[in-house]
Amino acid sequence: MRSHDVLMYSCVLMILIILSTSTPSSNKDVATKSGPLTADQLNVPTCLKSDECVYGGVCVKERKGKYRCMCSSGCALHVPIQCEVSNPISCLTMGEAYVSKYDMLPPMCYRDRCVCPPIFDPIPVTPPMPGLKALPPMKCDKKELQLIVAASPSDSVYKGTSVTFFCCINVDPRDYISKEGVYFVQNGTRKREPDLTPYENFSGDIDTLFTFPRCWSLTLDNVQSSDSGTYTCIAQPFNLRYPSKNETMDFMVKTQRMIQNVTITANATEAEIKWDIQEGSQLKIDLQLFRRSDRKVEVWGKLNVKSPILVDKLEPAMPYTLFITVIDGNAEPFILNEQFQTAEGVPDPPLLEDIRVINTETGLKCEVEWRPPSKPNGRIIKYYVQLIGKIRYVSPESRTLTTDHYPEAIELCTNYDGNQENGIDPRMFPSNFYACKFGPLKPNRNYTAAIWAENSAGKSEPILFKKQCVTDFAEPDLIEPPKTIVEYKTVFGLKFPAEPDEAQLP
Ligand SMILES: *[C@@H]1O[C@H](CO)[C@@H](O)[C@H](O)[C@H]1NC(C)=O
Ligand SMILES: *[C@@H]1O[C@H](CO)[C@@H](O)[C@H](O)[C@H]1NC(C)=O
Ligand SMILES: *[C@@H]1O[C@H](CO)[C@@H](O)[C@H](O)[C@H]1NC(C)=O
Ligand SMILES: *[C@@H]1O[C@H](CO)[C@@H](O)[C@H](O)[C@H]1NC(C)=O
Ligand SMILES: *[C@@H]1O[C@H](CO)[C@@H](O)[C@H](O)[C@H]1NC(C)=O
Ligand SMILES: *[C@@H]1O[C@H](CO)[C@@H](O)[C@H](O)[C@H]1NC(C)=O
Repeated sequence: MRSHDVLMYSCVLMILIILSTSTPSSNKDVATKSGPLTADQLNVPTCLKSDECVYGGVCVKERKGKYRCMCSSGCALHVPIQCEVSNPISCLTMGEAYVSKYDMLPPMCYRDRCVCPPIFDPIPVTPPMPGLKALPPMKCDKKELQLIVAASPSDSVYKGTSVTFFCCINVDPRDYISKEGVYFVQNGTRKREPDLTPYENFSGDIDTLFTFPRCWSLTLDNVQSSDSGTYTCIAQPFNLRYPSKNETMDFMVKTQRMIQNVTITANATEAEIKWDIQEGSQLKIDLQLFRRSDRKVEVWGKLNVKSPILVDKLEPAMPYTLFITVIDGNAEPFILNEQFQTAEGVPDPPLLEDIRVINTETGLKCEVEWRPPSKPNGRIIKYYVQLIGKIRYVSPESRTLTTDHYPEAIELCTNYDGNQENGIDPRMFPSNFYACKFGPLKPNRNYTAAIWAENSAGKSEPILFKKQCVTDFAEPDLIEPPKTIVEYKTVFGLKFPAEPDEAQLP
């Protein structure tokens, strides 16, 4: 049956040869100079028997009496799959692009399927795959086995990413190279078995003679430095008459970030961002800044920047996240994120609520109330309240030295006397509302209150209540016996709790 087909073909061939020999003999010289290349010029091996040809291929006698393999996998897409041996032109031609470059036999019908000469131009990979652009051209003779190794997306990837190694051959592997016949060897010692072979994708379909899978692949997820090295793909035909072939590639796992030594130095309102990049690298770096509490709103951003970068107008005591996008050519962008917090800033003064005189069992008191500053710029660690009572009226005749009155504070509070120890600890209060009482107050006084807030960056400006705690002139009630009071800034140690002389004035 098979020899019959070959015979049929040979007859057709004879006719063609006869036809071609009738053209002027000068044609031959032109062809060798600049015309299509012949099989000899292309070093296409010759065959003796069809078992030297790939699966479904046939050893065919050429015009010059040499035999060479033809196979379905060499056929261009427009060549039909099935044909009738009785119709010599049912397999069409290899197409103008091929015919103008290569002087090979035209497609022919063998066992009801078209077979074609080998091809010589690399086959683009479709759909395009990074790291694997083209496959070697299909051959029909087993002796022409060739491999390529490739890594996708690239032969140099970052630690923790994935990579797929491909080892592809240029012939149909069936009846020639088994499923296990192709494997990788890392660093010349470690055998690594592919996890996908073309055999998973073969079907009984007649189509598979035309386009068939021919790549073995090994996918590594989460690559580590130890995955670096040389990868040799070895293809071992099971018939030992054919030598094994190998091909090696270098693969590198990049551990260093392309950008290094990122430092962010922030004070309360500005941050300086610095980094190093390896010399000679052509990186594009984009920065984006977000408040950590609100990742949706970019507070600042800049594209294609160079170190160092100063970001201003930041909020004090605010946690931020900086995203650094590193774009290196066509590789996947690499995103780093860095967190930092701005330093505390001096707080705004507290928010004033009220100041009032209150009457208590133990006499008149002055009560002041406030809330935290609207911009604390950090964590408020202390408040200071200073209440000073000045004499409202001093008689011209009075020779008494009247000093300012600093009433004592009650419970959690202290009257600020310039000593930093005398602050009020906000943690002692149950809520963000603070109230302090001072007293007893002295008559005939005008008590003014000032408040400061303090965080680690320092003390706010003081804020004064617009109102005061004012006490009236009073009848001298019982004059208490003098007692010694150690009082702030008092120059004398002897003092009357009330000042009857002044109080008696109109
Ligand atoms: C090859 O086979 C695998 C697994 O059987 C399948 O996931 C994949 O889609 C197939 N590829 C092709 C091109 O048929
Ligand atoms: C292979 O060689 C590379 C480079 O010499 C090395 O980084 C890697 O760790 C080696 N891996 C193994 C498994 O030997
Ligand atoms: C790879 O092929 C070359 C010849 O092409 C051969 O010398 C070498 O031994 C082969 N290496 C392996 C590991 O098979
Ligand atoms: C922050 O530092 C910059 C200089 O790096 C300086 O100009 C600026 O005044 C500083 N801001 C504060 C609030 O300390
Ligand atoms: C990062 O800093 C280290 C230590 O200062 C230095 O050795 C290294 O070269 C820096 N990296 C780059 C890329 O400049
Ligand atoms: C109390 O003192 C403040 C500021 O010193 C002044 O504005 C205010 O008029 C005084 N009030 C009385 C009742 O004397």
